[in-house]
Amino acid sequence: MQQKTPSISSYLDGLAGLDTLRFITCGHVDDGKSTLIGRLLHDSQALFDDQLATLQSDSRRIGTQGEEIDFALLVDGLAAEREQGITIDIAWRFFTTDKRRFIIADAPGHQEYTRNMATAASTAMLAVILVDAGAGIREQTRRHAMICNLMGISQIIVAVNKIDSVGYDRTVFERIEAEFDDFASSLNFTSVTAIPISALKGDMVISRGSSLDWYHGPTLMGALELASTDDASLHAPARLPVQWVSRPDSGFRGYAGRIAAGEFSAGDHVRVLPSGMTTRIEAIRIGDSIRPSARKDESIMLTLADDISLSRGDVIASADNPPQVADQFEADLVWLTHTEGFAGRKVDFKFGTAKVSGSISTIKHCIDIDTGQRLSARSISLNDIACVTISLGRGVVFDPYAACRETGGFIIIDRETNETIGAGMIRFALRRASNIHRQAVNISRADREQLNENRARVYWFTGLSGSGKSTIANAFEVALNERGIRTYLLDGDNIRHGLNRDLGFTDADRIENIRRIAEVARLMLDAGLVVLTAFISPFQQDRAMARELIGGDDFVEVFVDTPLALCEERDVKGLYKKARAGEIPNFTGISSPYEAPENPECRLSGEGKSIEDMVQALIEMDAERG
Ligand code: ADX
Repeated sequence: MQQKTPSISSYLDGLAGLDTLRFITCGHVDDGKSTLIGRLLHDSQALFDDQLATLQSDSRRIGTQGEEIDFALLVDGLAAEREQGITIDIAWRFFTTDKRRFIIADAPGHQEYTRNMATAASTAMLAVILVDAGAGIREQTRRHAMICNLMGISQIIVAVNKIDSVGYDRTVFERIEAEFDDFASSLNFTSVTAIPISALKGDMVISRGSSLDWYHGPTLMGALELASTDDASLHAPARLPVQWVSRPDSGFRGYAGRIAAGEFSAGDHVRVLPSGMTTRIEAIRIGDSIRPSARKDESIMLTLADDISLSRGDVIASADNPPQVADQFEADLVWLTHTEGFAGRKVDFKFGTAKVSGSISTIKHCIDIDTGQRLSARSISLNDIACVTISLGRGVVFDPYAACRETGGFIIIDRETNETIGAGMIRFALRRASNIHRQAVNISRADREQLNENRARVYWFTGLSGSGKSTIANAFEVALNERGIRTYLLDGDNIRHGLNRDLGFTDADRIENIRRIAEVARLMLDAGLVVLTAFISPFQQDRAMARELIGGDDFVEVFVDTPLALCEERDVKGLYKKARAGEIPNFTGISSPYEAPENPECRLSGEGKSIEDMVQALIEMDAERG
């Protein structure tokens, strides 16, 4: 640090008594975030001497501010270094004044993406939204404000930056302030403070400068020092998501995790979710010491008075104010990736320490960033804010996000790439889910198979239009029937005349088409039949979903591998010709992709083989499997 105090220990003692404000800076890319952070760090003397020396020489060498210091270099320089190595989503920057400590969650990287911004916002108490005075409020300003709102940030500072570039004009500032207030009136902010600043010149950041006499409000630093650091989740009902269970010997069982909300004390009555069992806390350990109590953000090990079976992902909570358990919710989402999100597509959800597979069941609406209006949508694109319903493979323990950020938020993960593709905030559980229970039936699939005298399974034919799926599946069904096997053939063209007559050929509709067919095939499997499905089923992810739903042992993927050129040459229904003429949009192989299976159980090459040969191969495989 720059020379600041004579004694390190007295300096550190002073810090210990201060509270901490965690905040983020966001706004449109060009609105001056790096310069502002650089200015805050510099003017609050939070830089090391060597950083300062480098900054001064870099500014002279490659800066954009002549002889002056280019503060943007400070933050951008650090960011560039970081990005060469491992990817860190957020950089935490610290500085201190006499009044309090500050942590800025700086979200660098691809700034046009909301990914890092949303992650940073999820733990912040306040957001500084930068607006370029010359450019005014832009789409990204509004988007970031909405994300801050969704992420539960209630204090906003609108830093109207580059006020020097408009001649310190009061009317410009007041127009932006009014426009933001108008837009923010529909959001749940408790305080919105607009401040005219020049991060470049230093006006109204830490010192007031001499050019803004007409402004009588606080400086940016003044506002940061006045903001509330009250963290509601400190006083919220206690929650400990269990990260791991420690069993060094049969006598000891401890539950380790980081307290997500509230406070636990030895002797407290607690409820364990999802089982709902109640017990008392026997002891709380932090490291090697036993503590009477522990609070939010502390990593602890609990022992319980009763022997309760508990595993990773379970939550230990205050007994009289427990979280809920549900498998269907309504939630707000921010979409974080270029790949579009669709209802019905299998994804993983991570709720704290619990990971569950499931899907978005409906997209209720997306938000129009400019007007705040709800738009109906069939898919969710990068940076979209959407309201959806979600359906999970099993119940998870949660609180509404508004009640507790830590147990009400989740992320969505792509099952193939493992990439985080969305961030979500639970609004509420859907009551219909908890009112519907599974009904036990007496006759099982095994009983039906016995009566049918065959073992049920699903042959899932996939391939381009005109590849021969329907013809081969039909001939295969005939051959199976001749052998006394009970079957049913679900064929794309036929099903699209009935059950799926409401679906077209957009990605969203094809995903729903395959989801319904997979469900129907599963029912027929349960009815004890050998099921054949003949659908293009062009997407790998959806075939994987069908495989998972039906169960790997009963699922036989048959890839009818006829090259596009041959399908097009045959063109039995004349559709390729029309598609080439632009008369059929989204035609598979022409204007919509086909993702060939990599490891199908059976690959049938259409070239040079007769239908009989292929059916023979299938019958032999069936006999082997059966
Ligand atoms: S899937 O992609 O959703 O699995 P499905 O197998 O149900 O498609 O239906 C495909 C059949 O619909 C094709 O064989 C063809 O006869 C007809 N069809 C009409 N429009 C299209 C299109 N745009 N793309 C592909 N097939 C189409």
